[in-house]
Amino acid sequence: MAFQTVERALDGESLPMRLYEKAKRLGVWNPSDIDLTRDRKDWPALTEDQRDALLQTTSLFVAGEEAVTLDLLPLVLTIAREGRLEEELYLTTFLFEEGKHTQFFRRFLDEVGNSPDGLARFHGESYRRLFEVELPQAMQALLDDRSPPVQVRASVTYNLIVEGVLAETGYHSYFEALEARGLMPGLRDGLRLIKQDEARHIAYGVYLLERLVAADPALWEIVEERMAALLPLALGVVDEGFSRYGDRSPFGLEKDDIAAFAGAQFQARLERIRPA
Ligand SMILES: [Fe+2]
Ligand SMILES: [Fe+2]
Repeated sequence: MAFQTVERALDGESLPMRLYEKAKRLGVWNPSDIDLTRDRKDWPALTEDQRDALLQTTSLFVAGEEAVTLDLLPLVLTIAREGRLEEELYLTTFLFEEGKHTQFFRRFLDEVGNSPDGLARFHGESYRRLFEVELPQAMQALLDDRSPPVQVRASVTYNLIVEGVLAETGYHSYFEALEARGLMPGLRDGLRLIKQDEARHIAYGVYLLERLVAADPALWEIVEERMAALLPLALGVVDEGFSRYGDRSPFGLEKDDIAAFAGAQFQARLERIRPA
């Protein structure tokens, strides 16, 4: 085989290399360094319902980050096997960042939430279907079949639905609600950094899907089909989150606003990839 770096330069103008450069500047923050002192002081001053809501949300965030950390490798392997060096360089930062997100939320649970028990009680049916079945299945399918339709299903599930709809909606709404109340500055610092990392992850996913659909426009149908199949689960996660509170969460988040934000994310992601 001919090694790319012996034959030609890395394509610094390509989107993956631009994301790689960004990730090396912005993605190197350390979850262990985030100051949670004020958060620890805020915690006992919250209402019981607010503590419960924060534990619930963090239990969704931490398990979601763990799932994407565990499930990314088949995609990295696929890209490496195709010899797409620029994309693989970027993907080395992607997994590194997911690991740090997992560590950050676990640290918050331990150091602010006092290592609570039984967090799995917060995971409803839609959440479990998405993170325990759909995501791992879509990613592991790449181990047996690296064909473009399988890559499309994996990336739609991981990048567009889990990251582009669910994570963006969850992080955005929690960040705003805590900021409006001046609460949990350490958690907000972490959310701000994680949102930046996630924006790069989603940008890569959109790039990958655009590349696949441009090479074979018939794949667009699979994008639409998979998006449509997973949207009810994403909205189900919002529903389950509010099921204990009615339409308004203890931090003043409105269910309709969150569902509308998730729906708008969904449309925006779809539009980015739709062939001209
Ligand atoms: Fe993440
Ligand atoms: Fe991510």
